[in-house]
Amino acid sequence: MLLGFEEYEVQAQRLAKALGRSYARVDVHEFPDGESKVTLPAKLPAHVVFCRSLDRPNNKLIELLLAATTARQLGAQRLTLVVPYLCYMRQDTAFVAGEAISQTIIGQFLADIFDDVITVDPHLHRTHNLKDAVPAANAVALSATTAMCDFLLSHPDVILLGPDSESVQWVRSIAEVSGLAYGVAEKLRLGDREIQITLPDLDLTEKSVVLVDDVISSGETMAIAAKCCFEKGAKRVDVLATHALFAQSAVERFQQVGVGEVWSTDSIPHSSNCISLAGLFAEAVQAIT
Ligand code: R5P
Repeated sequence: MLLGFEEYEVQAQRLAKALGRSYARVDVHEFPDGESKVTLPAKLPAHVVFCRSLDRPNNKLIELLLAATTARQLGAQRLTLVVPYLCYMRQDTAFVAGEAISQTIIGQFLADIFDDVITVDPHLHRTHNLKDAVPAANAVALSATTAMCDFLLSHPDVILLGPDSESVQWVRSIAEVSGLAYGVAEKLRLGDREIQITLPDLDLTEKSVVLVDDVISSGETMAIAAKCCFEKGAKRVDVLATHALFAQSAVERFQQVGVGEVWSTDSIPHSSNCISLAGLFAEAVQAIT
């Protein structure tokens, strides 16, 4: 059985269909004081797959704890979490003494309540294996690049550009399969919204550029990269990302700098979603069960 939550239900139902499993919703009631009441189907099979994306995660984490603990009390013996956006992965060290290393704390929390954790493009840069961050029996990190390649088949004449050195992994693997030209920029982050980008030595005159990254949060990285591309003569800049976090005014920033289309996977529900991850996750669940 696959269990989902209201805010990610369409995507969870697609996954249940791809797996050929039944779907049911975990009902969440929020009390006036902010506490959550979580209700599962009273009868559960031995293996339950939860599907929930952890953007805006704090309440969702507590609700997952309540749901997973209840599932075990109801007799489930194996719990798998499909978590398309895995939260708290960016804080992987204490940049200032006293800061919590959220990555491993939240990773351990999830590993304590789930047997398997499956995600896509987790933000792991200094940590090389998902299992080091999430020490569950099975910790699986997938990549959305194959699905992105399929999507880009209908955009054959573009140049791919990664906005920072960390994005090379996605841009290069899409380029290797699709045969598209690519480059990777250098980024210097001076603050949450203060970013400097230096483009690689590529002729962008009258070219269509697709910026590719794992996360769009404030949108500043993509917006500044797009601005630089236009300054180098690009005729069009579109953006493609796995996780459309879209904090605050990202959409307005894109409009200001003239970004064309914004495309994303359905790891986080957003109007830019155009690439379904259901098939990718279904294969991963089947591979470990
Ligand atoms: C950082 O290294 C990530 O890959 C993204 O580039 C970053 O999270 C994007 O954040 P923002 O949209 O706030 O610039």
